[in-house]
Amino acid sequence: MQTTLNEAQIEEVRQALLGPGSDELIDFIVRLNLSLPAGELSKTVMEAASRLGWATFDAKPQLSPLGWLVADPLREYRMWLDRDRRIHGEGDSALLAPESYAGKSVLEVGSGFGCNLLSLSRRTHGKFVGVEPMAIYRQFTPLLAEREGVVAPEVVDGAGEALPFADRQFDIVLCYSAHQYMDICKALQEMARVLKPGGQLQVIGGSLDSYSLGLGQNLIKRPSASQLLNGARTLINTFSYQWLGRRMLLPSSAFATAAPIYPSRKAMYRWITSTGLTLRPDLIQRVGVETCFVADKS
Ligand SMILES: C[S@@+](CC[C@H](N)C(=O)[O-])C[C@H]1O[C@@H](n2cnc3c(N)ncnc32)[C@H](O)[C@@H]1O
Repeated sequence: MQTTLNEAQIEEVRQALLGPGSDELIDFIVRLNLSLPAGELSKTVMEAASRLGWATFDAKPQLSPLGWLVADPLREYRMWLDRDRRIHGEGDSALLAPESYAGKSVLEVGSGFGCNLLSLSRRTHGKFVGVEPMAIYRQFTPLLAEREGVVAPEVVDGAGEALPFADRQFDIVLCYSAHQYMDICKALQEMARVLKPGGQLQVIGGSLDSYSLGLGQNLIKRPSASQLLNGARTLINTFSYQWLGRRMLLPSSAFATAAPIYPSRKAMYRWITSTGLTLRPDLIQRVGVETCFVADKS
């Protein structure tokens, strides 16, 4: 299965993202990715999607394997546009307002194509770096930054469990909607390691209470068998990680996002404290349905 674009494909994507009809093309790919009706399509978009090898139009429009690959960063980008190019949850917490990152060195762990970093570089100054294991996201970083007319943030290959940085490098380590995919205890140790003394850890993500509530609400809506199975697998992995330190049900695919877990807030407090960081209960708060965990390094 193709997981990266070759050089020629990167240039084709670049042209498509900068060319006429690019908004409609992005919408179309994201709609198919979300199983929404494709709607009326212009000839330009159908030709572009065919030429790029992203979709076929036999009986009805369908994503190709390459289309599924590029749909992930495009969906993340579309969602970022929909929230006016802001950091998620920016309105819910003063901590997440771009001004509070001004002049700081910030590492985002699990940055995707770098939408939060783009929000920061558009609205403030500082050194903004991402770590992201999925190559397709990293390949889209300069392409989408160019489309936005912003200098591309540096997004390096790596994983939260083994950050490719020396000790004490960053003022802030941010991890947004990504810790659930990691070996969380290991990743938290790494995040604490690369923080400078006086630095701050900010981990924003779902926890057992919000995940269980969402699952309960979905049960009322008659979920499909695969949704039920996914929910059960996530709960089993969450509890086994909390109790045994590992996911019991191994991911069914090699994707970095295949086996999420949503530990309780108490477990997160315990693990963060065990890294030597000091929790900041005065700053820990809800951000939408997620929790923003905050801790300082002395
Ligand atoms: C839901 S996306 C969030 C992206 C971005 N932080 C945001 O707020 O939009 C989760 C990201 O975490 C990345 N990820 C998964 N496992 C990871 C790991 N072990 N270390 C670092 N990042 C990981 C995924 O590839 C994906 O890009």
